[in-house]
Amino acid sequence: MAIAIISDIHGNRPALDSVLEDIRNRKISRVYCLGDIVGYGPSPKECVDKVRDSCEVIIRGNHDDRVGNETSRFSRFAKATSLWTAAILREAEKQKNGFGSYIPWLNHLPLIHQSRGCYFVHGSPLDPLWEYLEPSPYMGLTESRAKQIFSAVEEEKCKVAFVGHTHQQAIFRAPGKVVPFLDYFGGYIPREEETLIVNVGSVGQPREDDKQASYAVMHDDGRIELIKLRYDTAKLLRAKARRVLAQNVLGINRKFINGLKPAGFFLQKIQQGIEDRLMAQNPITSSLIDKLKPLDFEDGG
Ligand SMILES: [Fe+2]
Repeated sequence: MAIAIISDIHGNRPALDSVLEDIRNRKISRVYCLGDIVGYGPSPKECVDKVRDSCEVIIRGNHDDRVGNETSRFSRFAKATSLWTAAILREAEKQKNGFGSYIPWLNHLPLIHQSRGCYFVHGSPLDPLWEYLEPSPYMGLTESRAKQIFSAVEEEKCKVAFVGHTHQQAIFRAPGKVVPFLDYFGGYIPREEETLIVNVGSVGQPREDDKQASYAVMHDDGRIELIKLRYDTAKLLRAKARRVLAQNVLGINRKFINGLKPAGFFLQKIQQGIEDRLMAQNPITSSLIDKLKPLDFEDGG
């Protein structure tokens, strides 16, 4: 049975919805996720819920690993989004039956999975959370490191390793060799003697010239297809803008409230009212949101 492999959703719900719909339209029922469900994007809870419902195998990414934990290896921007992602997920955990079901669940996902002669990991087989395998000679690493990575896959008796993390689709046929795009257009069938490393790209935050949502399919005959898909970026922008507004409003009001204890309870109610009004169909807010251009995150991770 064919398997769809998705990765690096990063809280982008419109992209995830489109990819899952595309997978359904192809009549593929098995979906594996290589991690980074959260981080950066505005809808971490919804994306965790959807991935849990849709995926048979779910691997931990570095953003899943660090949410709710220290983030010293992240850039400033990634740290900031990790903090508010944790805040949103803690809120979700306060709901009925939600205790521990988001942050601890993400933090304890498995690091690797192996089945049917395939290896699944977020980063690389030698460094599951942090190593980037880039679409350049020797995967952007030294020749000896690239060889070690291929050897690690072969030692596990696997013919194909699927990875994410870099947010750039690529097929590596040998330690120093990237398969040119035209060679795998429409699907690449590995040769008998080959070991492949396939970077499936990113659903929610591609770091390529082409910003479409990306994922991969492994067909029954072993053919590997790299897929790119348009999705509703306007929906993503609206969700981002709402999240940014909520952050600013909450930030200002929390400072104010902290200085005015013990009237906190009533002030929290007022704060909620202000936030609700801003989030509602306020014509000024809506027109500002409509003017936003797609944000292009170039941060690592
Ligand atoms: Fe990522």
